[in-house]
This record gives sequence, structure tokens and C-alpha cells, in this order.
Amino acid sequence: MDEATRIEEIEVIALTPAFAPVAAALHQTGFDDFWDENAICDLLNVPGAFGLLAFAPGSGQHQGSACAEDIPLGFVLVQVVLDEAEINTIVVGPAARRCGVGNILMENVVSHLQKHGVGRLLLEVACDNAAAMALYQKLGFAEIGRRRGYYRRNGGPAIDALVMERV
Ligand SMILES: CC(C)(COP(=O)(O)OP(=O)(O)OC[C@H]1O[C@@H](n2cnc3c(N)ncnc32)[C@H](O)[C@@H]1OP(=O)(O)O)[C@@H](O)C(=O)NCCC(=O)NCCS
Repeated sequence: MDEATRIEEIEVIALTPAFAPVAAALHQTGFDDFWDENAICDLLNVPGAFGLLAFAPGSGQHQGSACAEDIPLGFVLVQVVLDEAEINTIVVGPAARRCGVGNILMENVVSHLQKHGVGRLLLEVACDNAAAMALYQKLGFAEIGRRRGYYRRNGGPAIDALVMERV
């Protein structure tokens, strides 16, 4: 998507294994240690896991499904265990950032969990990831713990992970 393109509409659908190549391409834009399609399929195939994919609809007439003209914007992967869920990953493609896509994905996760009686939502975020922390704080997450030196990036200094819970 062109940097200057405005996103007129954002649709969210279930991220099934069929979308793993799309998700893998998006993941590569957000992380040094990105996940390939197999890793994404493996995570989706764990009992209790689900994913959501956000896209900008193309000109085709459809709703609740995706077609070749659609532009993938971002996705989120979630793992539910009993009454607790954890965000495994969330990423929005660089050209679509700061347009509300991350917010919409997370709001869809929260409403899905509420519908299924899952009360607790947790995640981990690198303490130097200002964009993600700002998104989570806006959504009502608060820090409940810290894992010292949890992330190691390409020989750089170890970075703490903050454990956050939606309160
Ligand atoms: C973190 C990420 C998913 C946010 O997605 P996004 O679609 O850009 O976020 P949104 O546009 O929905 O932003 C919602 C709010 O989050 C905060 N926010 C998002 N990006 C921000 C930034 N770069 N700087 C400051 N605040 C930011 C703002 O409060 C924003 O609301 P506002 O635009 O009304 O001020 C995206 O930056 C990304 O994919 N980063 C790379 C991968 C990553 O770090 N994932 C998280 C791992 S824990």
C-alpha cells in the first residue's frame, strides 16, 4: 500500500491457516525474529488459539470474507487457556500504522473474549517499544510484572519485557 493511501474502511475476519503467507509477510515487517508461514500455522493449530486479520477491502462486493483485491493491513494471534488469554503477536504493516488498525484488532479480540467468557487478557511487550506500549495503555492495559533481559536483538543489549494485563 502506498504511504499516502488513506484507509477508508477496515474489515476484520478470522485469520485461518489459508492466510498464513499473508500473515508471515506482515510479521516480517514488524520483527527481526519474524515468523514464517509454518510457525504461524503451528500457532493457529494449538487448541484455544485464534487469529484476526484486518484488511482494506478492494472494489469487489463482499463482506466477511477476503478477495484478491483486498489489501492486508495487520493481524493478531491470541492463545486462550481456560478463562485467560494472551496476545501471541500483533503487527500492522508499516504503511497502515497509526490509522487505527492495531486498535481495531485489539478491540475485536477483547469483544471476542468477552463473548466467550474469557476475563483475563495478558501480553508481553519490550520496554523500548513505545508504539505498542502506547496502544496497550490506551486500551486499558497496565504493567503487572517485568522479565529482566527477556529480549535479545541481534547482539544488542538485553531488553526487559513488561507483562501487561487489561484491567
Ligand atoms: C504496535 C502496532 C501494532 C500499533 O499498530 P497501529 O495500527 O499503528 O496502532 P493504532 O493506529 O491503532 O494506534 C492506536 C493508539 O496507539 C498509540 N500509538 C500507536 N502507535 C504509536 C506511535 N508510533 N507512537 C505513539 N503512540 C502510538 C496511540 O495512542 C494511538 O492512538 P492515536 O493514533 O489516536 O494517538 C504497530 O506499531 C506495529 O505493528 N509495530 C511493529 C510490531 C510490534 O511492535 N508489535 C507489538 C509487539 S508487543
